Amino acid sequence: MFENKNVLITGGLGFIGSNLAIKLVELGAKVTIADAMIPEYGGNLFNVEPIKDKIHINFTDIRSETSMEYLVRNQDYIFHLAGQVSHIMSLSNPFPDIDINIKGTAVIMEALKKFNRDAIVVYTGTRGQYGSAVSLPVNEEAPLKPKGIYEISNLAAEQIVKVYNDVFGIRSVLLRLTNIYGPRAQMKHSKYNVANWFIRLAIDNEVIKVFGDGSLKRDFLYVDDCVDAIIKVATNEKAYGEIFNVGVDKPVTILEFVKKVIEICGTGKWEFAPYTPERLAQEPGDYYSDITKIRTFVNWGPKTLLEEGIKKTIEYYKKYKKYYW
Ligand SMILES: NC(=O)c1ccc[n+]([C@@H]2O[C@H](COP(=O)([O-])OP(=O)(O)OC[C@H]3O[C@@H](n4cnc5c(N)ncnc54)[C@H](O)[C@@H]3O)[C@@H](O)[C@H]2O)c1
Repeated sequence: MFENKNVLITGGLGFIGSNLAIKLVELGAKVTIADAMIPEYGGNLFNVEPIKDKIHINFTDIRSETSMEYLVRNQDYIFHLAGQVSHIMSLSNPFPDIDINIKGTAVIMEALKKFNRDAIVVYTGTRGQYGSAVSLPVNEEAPLKPKGIYEISNLAAEQIVKVYNDVFGIRSVLLRLTNIYGPRAQMKHSKYNVANWFIRLAIDNEVIKVFGDGSLKRDFLYVDDCVDAIIKVATNEKAYGEIFNVGVDKPVTILEFVKKVIEICGTGKWEFAPYTPERLAQEPGDYYSDITKIRTFVNWGPKTLLEEGIKKTIEYYKKYKKYYW
């Protein structure tokens, strides 16, 4: 399917982007990565170590019109994963979200409009676009009431990509991802990617603080399954122009997840902690994805059991700790 196809991955040195790049190289694609390596974000050159001689890396910012106008040409697929991805950081400074996630997305779509309307675009938004769930599991028709700037910027970016699909015929697929965990995520701070952060604390034999009573429900998806979903929607015409949830239809509570991590890791402790008022105000409550639509359209569903995903993640970070801590 990807043999000799030209593929651009924005944010390809980050968590999901690098796992996707590795898979696409395996499938025969010619991969170019565009990544700005912004400090505190997830870019890490070690992420692409297994494929470093087989890809092109362009250290550029998606907000650069000239770079994007050059890079989008002759690409068969654009996987747009670059962004400011921390909900917490967006609360202290909203401007990177507005600038990178909204403007940056528009720059890419304008470049495509001018130079390559035949490319297929996949955009990865967030479950946070829904805000608090009105009913569970959450399907794609649920109301959109984002609770933070990061989530608003993802929703805006998604809708920008959709407009270019509907008005200018640039085919795209819009994904709303749940919490993803696994190898190649940033592990230096806890400002985003809570599941991976719990895994770091367990590896370091530290205390994992569980807010409230730990009964919040979440669906944690292993990164390989997320990559599989991205590839399936990109290569299936039925998916073009559509919005899909990508998640797990069987939720766990935060406390169950933490206990599993500690058990599999063999180290780490947990304790309850009160929410900070700010966290509580932004907390959307229970969430898990209804994935009926993506199952029906492209026959995708998660394959990795939680225990298996946690085990693989712990093994990876224990082995390559020095590149992530
Ligand atoms: N990881 C999750 O749980 C999750 C959940 C929902 C949605 N998403 C979405 O998936 C996408 C990828 O997330 P991730 O977890 O891989 O994050 P990440 O931080 O690991 O990767 C993002 C990458 O984008 C790059 N980047 C940021 N701004 C850039 C810019 N202006 N120009 C070029 N590169 C830039 C960063 O350097 C980084 O390498 C994001 O759009 C995010 O919102 C992720």
